[in-house]
Amino acid sequence: MSIVGRHLLGLDGMGAEEIQFLLDSADSFREIAEREIKKVPTLRGKTVVSLFFESSTRTRTSFEIAAKRLSADFVSVNASASSVSKGESLLDTARNIAAMSPDALVVRHSRAGAPHFLARHVGCPVINAGDGAHEHPTQALLDLLTIRKEKGRIAGLKVAIVGDILHSRVTRSNLYALRTLGAEVRLVGPPTLVPRQLASWGDLHHNLEEGIRDADVVMMLRLQRERQGANFLPSLDEYSRYFCLTSAALDAAKPDAVVLHPGPINRGVEISSDVADSNRSAILDQVANGVAVRMATLYLLAGRVRDTEQRQTA
Ligand code: NCD
Repeated sequence: MSIVGRHLLGLDGMGAEEIQFLLDSADSFREIAEREIKKVPTLRGKTVVSLFFESSTRTRTSFEIAAKRLSADFVSVNASASSVSKGESLLDTARNIAAMSPDALVVRHSRAGAPHFLARHVGCPVINAGDGAHEHPTQALLDLLTIRKEKGRIAGLKVAIVGDILHSRVTRSNLYALRTLGAEVRLVGPPTLVPRQLASWGDLHHNLEEGIRDADVVMMLRLQRERQGANFLPSLDEYSRYFCLTSAALDAAKPDAVVLHPGPINRGVEISSDVADSNRSAILDQVANGVAVRMATLYLLAGRVRDTEQRQTA
């Protein structure tokens, strides 16, 4: 029996052993990207459907490349958010897709819980590619893989997550996993985006330099303007004056601190170009590791022999 569940909906509640297993599996897929022929037959004959109700380039492309490197067929459905504002139509969309017997469904939705809902109604594994401000498990796994590669471990590291913590699904998934793996987490940003109620999740800081002092990892976040109401920030200028990671600010972190960002980056708003392009930035490594993480996820979930197939061959 695999230690990995049937779906990948979030990292909340996932044990250290399962997270490490996913990271180890992803690690073993990294090497395929360096081959001249970047394709293995592992998922030949399987169909992966991506159902994105929110825009995405990076994540969808990453899943597509991952599926294709495993020889799966990849079908991308670009669903518009307006057509699914009612639970029923989401269910109908899902039932229609399920009727075509995909082997995995990759879902992104602006509402928290949408992938969990679908997982209860379609007969195939569901992978959450981001649900509202809730979770984004494959992003956190690729962040962890990048940190582990750079630092050789996760346990005991000081990780500062900086920016729009409140609206960040990337933060939530990272928090669950980083804490499970024994990292020390700090949440850094203005009080409107790092409210006191989050104190049980990590040390809260409203000053960038204090927050990243002696950090081993500085994880910058994009401002989630699409999820923010009005009044979270006086202005972008003011935000960047206090919270943009410049090389001067980065001096507060450990000299070998690694800088992460899930992308897309807003240069000059949350991170300066010299930091984003410096050798302390692992932003493009994150993108490369993302393909490996998604290959591992698809392999472990879509590659599973279905119950009915198992019965026929028993
Ligand atoms: C993240 C997301 O969509 O949550 N981006 C991504 O997956 N590439 C982070 C973000 O949009 O800021």
